[in-house]
Amino acid sequence: MRILVTGGAGYIGSHTVVALLERGHDVVVADDFSNARPAVLDRVAELAGRRAALEVVDLTDAGRTDAVVAAAAPDAVVHFAGRKAVGESAERPLDYYRTNLDSTFSLLAAMERHGVRRLVYSSSATVYGDHAPVPYVETYEPLAAASPYGRTKVMTEQVLADVAAATPGLRVALLRYFNPVGAHPSGRMGEDPQGVPNNLMPYVAQVAVGRRERLAIFGDDYDTPDGTCLRDYVHVLDLAEGHVAALEHLDTMATPVRAFNLGAGRGTSVRELFDAFCAVVGRPLPHEVVARRPGDLPAYWADTTRAAEELGWRARRTIDDMVADTWRWQQANPEGYPA
Ligand code: UD1
Repeated sequence: MRILVTGGAGYIGSHTVVALLERGHDVVVADDFSNARPAVLDRVAELAGRRAALEVVDLTDAGRTDAVVAAAAPDAVVHFAGRKAVGESAERPLDYYRTNLDSTFSLLAAMERHGVRRLVYSSSATVYGDHAPVPYVETYEPLAAASPYGRTKVMTEQVLADVAAATPGLRVALLRYFNPVGAHPSGRMGEDPQGVPNNLMPYVAQVAVGRRERLAIFGDDYDTPDGTCLRDYVHVLDLAEGHVAALEHLDTMATPVRAFNLGAGRGTSVRELFDAFCAVVGRPLPHEVVARRPGDLPAYWADTTRAAEELGWRARRTIDDMVADTWRWQQANPEGYPA
């Protein structure tokens, strides 16, 4: 297939582009580099043995998006592009609603105009909100989210359901990621957050490489085995393979729009992840326990039955793989990708 990947220069996008190229698909990346470096596409080419084509485009520009979709003439679109920082979304909600919704509107209009009928969308476990029982199952309703970022994911899922209901032949996979971590095992690609990392794994990695003084563990008085929060960490290569599987199953899905949890299906605590990182680095890393971070849930993980049964996908890589690959990437690229 010929696949248009929006946000293909980002963390999950770039790993997915490698997986798609390796699988024999042709790829056009659409990215505005607002949170990614162009150098990532050289690494993609190096690993996959051939290049993805590139369109530098801001998808909120409907006219440009239409031209990109027309020129790419894709068989399918994988839509990663969007803003994703929970805290920032509370400070700048309008930016988040405008960017994440408008870009999807442009893309859907262009897909309709040019007859593109397959879409894989980057959703998030955050759509299960504060009240869903664990493990999270795809059939849970009503979806809710505690941040403007999360609400853009809920809203986009709803928009996609409505548009698909009105568009014969449109097939949409909603991939709900749990906590993506890890890096390409080559050490050539990984997560490269701009500024201070918001998420646990990149923060620990930057402590290990000396860019940050110490990890702050946000609370150890939760009702969990060791008092720290449990999350479902999933290796970015497993996620990338999940996108390939979803694309290849779009035409045979049980319903035209279908959600799939992409997680490992088990909870790992902040302390377990941190200890695993210290073990791979070979020394204790500086840390302190501080107050809980507002909004954090104590524990959640995925029920992964549907992805296993319907996509034939399951996460194969372990926590040790996740920390080892992250550390290899961070050591080889202490400042991330070259500017
Ligand atoms: C967040 C987002 C989620 C997004 C995910 C990306 C919410 C509420 N959160 O998940 O949508 O998909 O990032 O991976 O929507 N922690 C520390 N110290 C730190 C950083 C984190 O102790 O410096 C703890 C947190 O309290 C949490 C765990 O580590 O218990 C994981 O945090 P984080 O990596 O930020 O991910 P989430 O908040 O689970």
